[in-house]
Amino acid sequence: MRILVVGKGGREHALVRALAESPEPPALFCFPGSDAISELAEPVAADGVESLVAWMKTHAIDLCVAGEESYLVKGEGLANLCAKADIPCWGPPKESAQLEASKEFSKGFLLRNAIPTARATACATLAEACSAIAGQYPVVLKFDGLAAGKGVAVCPDAAAADEFLDEVFTQRRFGDGRVLVEECLSGPEVSVFAAIVDDSYLIFTPARDYKRIGEGDRGPNTGGMGAVASRQLIAPETLAQIEAEIIRPTVAGLRRETLPYRGFLYFGIMLTPSGPQVIEYNCRFGDPECQAVMPLVHGDLAGFCLAGAQGQLRADLLEFDEGWSVCVILASAGYPATSRSGDLISGLESCGEARIYHAGTRRNSAGQWETNGGRVLAVVAGAATREAAVEQAHAAAGCIDFSGLQRRHDIGILHFT
Ligand code: AMP
Ligand code: GLY
Repeated sequence: MRILVVGKGGREHALVRALAESPEPPALFCFPGSDAISELAEPVAADGVESLVAWMKTHAIDLCVAGEESYLVKGEGLANLCAKADIPCWGPPKESAQLEASKEFSKGFLLRNAIPTARATACATLAEACSAIAGQYPVVLKFDGLAAGKGVAVCPDAAAADEFLDEVFTQRRFGDGRVLVEECLSGPEVSVFAAIVDDSYLIFTPARDYKRIGEGDRGPNTGGMGAVASRQLIAPETLAQIEAEIIRPTVAGLRRETLPYRGFLYFGIMLTPSGPQVIEYNCRFGDPECQAVMPLVHGDLAGFCLAGAQGQLRADLLEFDEGWSVCVILASAGYPATSRSGDLISGLESCGEARIYHAGTRRNSAGQWETNGGRVLAVVAGAATREAAVEQAHAAAGCIDFSGLQRRHDIGILHFT
């Protein structure tokens, strides 16, 4: 089998590695990929989605796996172009990927399908937003578009709200778009992933992401500073409630609204005192949740994704480990406001059993690994208990160093004690 994976981050490194570990190892290709990914998957030079799909056609690619969301909604959409070219694609078409790309669309979908979510009002102007907030704090403000994880502000007070609204409506930091003024929910968050194939689904191992840069969940939001994953993360009755009130109605809603879906769907959920509620959908796996979850998935991922892209949910091809997995992110100096590239990385070979996924790295002219982005590496360890996985992941993370390294020491610990 010949598989092309789209994306370049730690999530795609983990996906490529998991696909490579399938019982009949596929020939792997990546776009745009990275120096680390290209050790497992041959990079493809293309200058856009159209030329990439043309390349896939001429190079007899059997399956395209969408790692990163942006390609799903660029131009005609990656999956739409694959469909035209008759290439199975694991990842939804553009119209369905609006669930992630437009917060207003996803809110409408949630409400139409009676899926629990926070109340929200869509606002086109600063004045409308101020009137929707009506002096009630805390409030959550969300830019209605892809904003690389920076488009959401949880505002404790008017000063925070004014700052975000200024960025959106005056500085136009994210381009044109409306803002959702949303009720602020509270409770622990979980990321639940399902592989969806038309009207059937398979729930993968749930995870928790640590979004803030600082220990104790302090400081600004990031793309994710670590994750913990386990079947045991959520009580069975809570998972049953999530399935009944959120996952099943979502799959039924996609069918009812003729939104085709074959791929991973990520449910960002808050476990509020009045039950689980959807915070967001993402039309892909989470990053860094994917790096934590993939080592717990055994079996034939390549066969599973191909069958799924062709319309068959082959749950029998996968097995899920009952244990725990902990992923610690090592980020570069300045992250998340900025990032620094070019710092030499040491200790990569001394991490023992831990898995290392590269997110923002490159090889320098001497062949050494150096930083190349905000989130640099993900260090992942698995064990039967959370405590053992925590100890191993943090010990391995401690073996790696580079100038300006930032990491959290409470990944897998905070929210459990
Ligand atoms: P999102 O990009 O929609 O996942 O939002 C980023 C983060 O903002 C989430 O992971 C939550 O921590 C927080 N958040 C989003 N919506 C809400 C909400 N309605 N109430 C409280 N926190 C929220
Ligand atoms: N870890 C959050 C995300 O992938 O959106």
